Amino acid sequence: MTGIRILSTGSQQARQVVTNDDMARVVETNDEWIRTRTGIRQRRFAGEEESTTTLAVGAAREAVRALEEGGRSRQEIGAVLVATFTPSDLVPNTACLVQEALGLPEKLLALDINAACSGFLAGLRLSQGLLEQQPEKLVLIVGAEVISRVTDFTDRGTCVLFGDAAGAAVVGADPSRPFWWSTGARGGGQALSCAGIPVGGGPVGKIAMNGKDVFRFAVEAIPAGIREVLAKSGAELSEMDWFICHQANARILSHAAKAMGIPLEKFYMNLDRYGNTSAASIPVALDEMNREGLLQEGMKLMLAGFGGGLTWGAAQIIW
Ligand code: UT7
Repeated sequence: MTGIRILSTGSQQARQVVTNDDMARVVETNDEWIRTRTGIRQRRFAGEEESTTTLAVGAAREAVRALEEGGRSRQEIGAVLVATFTPSDLVPNTACLVQEALGLPEKLLALDINAACSGFLAGLRLSQGLLEQQPEKLVLIVGAEVISRVTDFTDRGTCVLFGDAAGAAVVGADPSRPFWWSTGARGGGQALSCAGIPVGGGPVGKIAMNGKDVFRFAVEAIPAGIREVLAKSGAELSEMDWFICHQANARILSHAAKAMGIPLEKFYMNLDRYGNTSAASIPVALDEMNREGLLQEGMKLMLAGFGGGLTWGAAQIIW
């Protein structure tokens, strides 16, 4: 099976910084509750001039710039996959808008994919299949969300959790970097939902969530997904240099770390600054780590996501 390598990354955060104290002016909440229950200190919301498309284009532009600084060309890109559950439009899809904005080749596959917070993992898995078809090409994967536009700002149990952002990565085939994955869906979708096109004049979709059910699912799905990946790769947990998981709640990550006996320091966390940005959270984390010099060539990384569906995904990659 084709191995894959992440060749470059990029990200873009939404403009407005919204602190926990700011949220306390919107709903009955407080900084202490949000910090101790989630680890979140602030999040970012898109301004009027921003959208999922502008954030996706911004993150993709950075990733493509970094790709070209490394001596490759955007002309090599054969597919754009944008993971999002909050596209600005249904048609044209976000991937087509990224293709146009970045002047990418016309001969490519431009697809939006929706697997909620597992969307980037879904994109990585799909990219492996696409690179098997065309090993000479590259795949641009973007995770982008403007969740603030589908947030119920009267529901304190959800509105304090989410933020808006986009992250991107360009991947290419690399036989020396085997790629192992696990993905799944298991029903129970009513635990985390966002209604789509309002049929028959129904309400415009807003996020509704049973936080406890999703929490229970997450603390089980992360270790289960990771163990399945390790069973395929034959690697040991202790060989992983970093665990880069969906950034939903610091308590979920510490439960998962404890359940697997992994030091929490191996779990990268930036949710204190951005909140839960769904499909964007893992590529944003990768980009930050990349820019901070935390990722050295040859490191083994374990990625894991979970969320609406309910879905999960995990993957072992070599940096
Ligand atoms: O991307 C995947 C999506 N989502 C997730 O990963 C979320 C998973 N779930 C969670 O992270 C947690 O369940 C939450 C952070 C959402 C909630 O934490 P919890 O410890 O499960 O709290 P809870 O829902 O049981 O609520 C405990 C109390 C309740 O008050 P009472 O009934 O005990 O009086 C809530 O009304 O906290 C109250 N509460 C709040 N208080 C202040 C709920 N939200 C807030 C709030 N501020 N924002």
